Amino acid sequence: MRILGLETSCDDTGVAVYDSDPVSGGLLAHKLYSQIELHAEYGGVVPELASRDHVRKLLPLIKAVLTESGLKKDQIDGVAYTAGPGLAGALLVGAAVGRSLAWGWQVPAIAVHHLEGHLLSPMLENEAPAFPFLGLLVSGGHTLLADIRGVGQYHILGESIDDAVGEAFDKTAKHLGLGYPGGPAIASAAKTGQTGRFNFPRPMTNRPGLDFSFSGLKTAVITAADKTSLDQQDIADIAAGFQEAAIDTLLIKTQRALAQTGYKSLVVAGGVSANELLRTRLGQIAKKEGLRLYFPRPEFCTDNGAMIAYAGAQRLAAGQSEGLAFGAWPRWKLDDLVKI
Ligand code: KG4
Ligand code: ZN
Repeated sequence: MRILGLETSCDDTGVAVYDSDPVSGGLLAHKLYSQIELHAEYGGVVPELASRDHVRKLLPLIKAVLTESGLKKDQIDGVAYTAGPGLAGALLVGAAVGRSLAWGWQVPAIAVHHLEGHLLSPMLENEAPAFPFLGLLVSGGHTLLADIRGVGQYHILGESIDDAVGEAFDKTAKHLGLGYPGGPAIASAAKTGQTGRFNFPRPMTNRPGLDFSFSGLKTAVITAADKTSLDQQDIADIAAGFQEAAIDTLLIKTQRALAQTGYKSLVVAGGVSANELLRTRLGQIAKKEGLRLYFPRPEFCTDNGAMIAYAGAQRLAAGQSEGLAFGAWPRWKLDDLVKI
């Protein structure tokens, strides 16, 4: 089955074709158009601008992906689109185009949960994880640990009660004048910073449980930054201290969740999973504790069409599909998904 996948939930227009044939299949083509430049001058995503840009870019990108895959439109067996969670207007662009194309081509359509796409994204790699495993999802909108037993079987063990970790990176970077998106900007500034100079809190690690909180850390960083007129070195030192605290917090909770579930496989996905410090530290833990560690390739850590095509293919193969109506669910809960 060859599935066209569309991702438009935030500030990336992603399109891909995935072939589910176990022998000849795999990812046939994918393209991404990032709106970073469009939003950079505002220091964050402007929803209305995002929707309009998806309208401009989606159809040309679909044509380009079909050309790259060498497929004609009548060789596509289904269309998957992100239907939530995300920005309502942006989601509606992908949902409207995806549902309409499927109707025009007389193939089934499937609405995909964005976080399911992220969590299954390591399955696109040669060394794919096998169920069950622990999932750590770290993105701009979400931070959560989940017990994952199969497609659609996600039991949330803990999540952020306020800011997502990526959001904390973005807000901290904005305050330090490092630009948008903040994750890569903080990581790069931290390279020349001294880790030990600013010792920021590791929120909620001194009490039991697997929930996260990042708004206090962000505030501690902003307070420290406001105390002095910052030079380049101060900014680098604060960035290093913040990154260390944020990653440490993720590691403490992840190790706790591994102990609680007894799982020896860990999948890490979402934009922040591109972070080098997180990858290095997790690699060290994995080596020490005999853990199997799975990440998506770096370009599929952030939003992309490939993960949506893959997740959609699993659901279509199980016989699920949408009626003729379409919708977008900006606040769709991950544990409400249908099991397959
Ligand atoms: O998964 P994603 O593309 O979008 C959401 O679904 O939210 O994640 C975007 C987030 C942004 O907050 C961005 O700053 C963060 O991922 N990010 C990083 C890195 N690359 C992207 N955070 C830390 N280190 C990175 N290298
Ligand atoms: Zn995402």
